[in-house]
Amino acid sequence: MIVAISGKGGVGKTVFSALTIKYLTSKGKKVLAVDADPDANLAEALGVEVENSIGGIREELQKIQHKIPGGLTKEAFLQRKIQEIISEHKGFDLLVMGRAEGQGCYCWVNNILRENIDKLSANYDFTIIDCEAGLEHLSRRTTKDVDIMFVVLDQSRLSLNTALRIKELAKEVDINFKKLFIVQNKGQNKNFEKEAGKEGIKVIGVLPEDNEIVRLYSEGKAITGISEKANAYYSVKQVWENQNIY
Ligand SMILES: Nc1ncnc2c1ncn2[C@@H]1O[C@H](COP(=O)(O)OP(=O)(O)O)[C@@H](O)[C@H]1O
Ligand SMILES: [Mg+2]
Repeated sequence: MIVAISGKGGVGKTVFSALTIKYLTSKGKKVLAVDADPDANLAEALGVEVENSIGGIREELQKIQHKIPGGLTKEAFLQRKIQEIISEHKGFDLLVMGRAEGQGCYCWVNNILRENIDKLSANYDFTIIDCEAGLEHLSRRTTKDVDIMFVVLDQSRLSLNTALRIKELAKEVDINFKKLFIVQNKGQNKNFEKEAGKEGIKVIGVLPEDNEIVRLYSEGKAITGISEKANAYYSVKQVWENQNIY
């Protein structure tokens, strides 16, 4: 199952992604975590260190352009590189997209990622993609064909606008999510719920402001270190235990 977590910048995408990964791995699920935000910080949220990203492959490919080793096609070479970049951790694997180095089109990196996510995800129970902020990933089609698209909201009107726009945009670029849900972060918002409801988008979960998250962030600690009893973690569990998800 491929799951994308999107929304405006700073709304809590990485928090929701990390807590989701904590929950799924606690249930023994095999998870591939994908950090698709150029401002990558999912690794920190998961408490692991990662050296390589897809962005770095670009440089390497440009250097060796016409001399790909072992008679491989460009695609096969890239596929092998991506396999090498995936880091293995306790309970999950992690693929970091990173920034494209040097000048030029960033789409190139996105294309590689998209083509490979489908293939890779077959090896996992869940592929969890922490998307870049905004909805650009839709027009670039890096989050095409996902099973569940979560849009995270905070209490800002702009974050709701992003969620409302996602349906239109998906139609324009001919993308179909099997399921689309809102996750309301930093407390309930009845008005947002009503407005989203009018567009047929359901709020599947509400995460409260959680002091433990604030503390973990300020101490530079992993979000997955949150206690089992924390309110925000409880809400994430409830999202995943909701029958509508599957
Ligand atoms: N439920 C929450 N309670 C308290 N603080 C939160 C909560 N969710 C997110 N935050 C804070 O909001 C900031 C942005 O969260 P983050 O997940 O990094 O956003 P995004 O990935 O969408 O840019 C972080 O500093 C984080 O500590
Ligand atoms: Mg983030």
